[in-house]
Amino acid sequence: MNAFDCRVTVLVDNSAEDGLATEHGLSLWIETGDMRILFDTGQGMALEHNVDALGIDLRDADALVLSHGHYDHTGDVARVLGMCPQIHVYCHPDVMLERYSVRDGAATSIGMPKRSMAAMETLPSERLHWVQQPIMLSDSIGLTGPIPREAEYEDTGGPFFLDSDGQRPDPIEDDIALWIRRDESLFVCVGCAHAGIVNTVSYIERLNPSFRIRTILGGLHLVNATSHRLQETADALRRTDAEVIVPIHCTGEAGTVALQATLGDRAVIGAAGMTWRC
Ligand SMILES: [Fe+2]
Ligand SMILES: [Fe+2]
Repeated sequence: MNAFDCRVTVLVDNSAEDGLATEHGLSLWIETGDMRILFDTGQGMALEHNVDALGIDLRDADALVLSHGHYDHTGDVARVLGMCPQIHVYCHPDVMLERYSVRDGAATSIGMPKRSMAAMETLPSERLHWVQQPIMLSDSIGLTGPIPREAEYEDTGGPFFLDSDGQRPDPIEDDIALWIRRDESLFVCVGCAHAGIVNTVSYIERLNPSFRIRTILGGLHLVNATSHRLQETADALRRTDAEVIVPIHCTGEAGTVALQATLGDRAVIGAAGMTWRC
């Protein structure tokens, strides 16, 4: 790849192009002139098959970024760390928390699987980078760290708790996003956008005042959103400079329809196997 090429490929998603596996999960492959990054791993049922089918070698990865500590983003961490003995991992320390979805009094554990936790604990400290504020991984790639929650209509998007009794709400403080700079444009990648996609976009705009967001790709977690939130979100994204918004994974059908209704051709249906140039 020449030094100016930059592209992002969806490796794992709830939808996929022919010949690729699907699951409820997300994983992206980010290639720039100076770095290759695996952004999340999915649950671990689709990644291996899909990278093989796409001709991608994960051993080329310089870094693994974990957008947050849910099982559907961290399920294949042990295998990835095993095959990439020099890889650096970037995430917020709360990715290791136990956490639950609690509905009608029934709790489901949705944190990082134990085998992934065990693999993380074997990482030497010089290759495990806790991201608690914005940082640049290279000249062109940045991570937000925790994202300020400002929009009154946005929340974490579900019945998320730190205890199985549903007494301690989980703020999902570990939710982080990634941006890639190219010329004066930004390509934004999110995992589930539990901080809210509008909060995420606003923060990245503030962190990159000389750049304009051109593309937004990832899970927008609008599955439980009210019609008020859907419309406010679609209107806020319409006011951005983004030319391409690809809502995948946990965005949900109603969320995708609302975005398409407001954004028209700027909202693009994504799936595993699709690649965008930065
Ligand atoms: Fe997710
Ligand atoms: Fe999530």
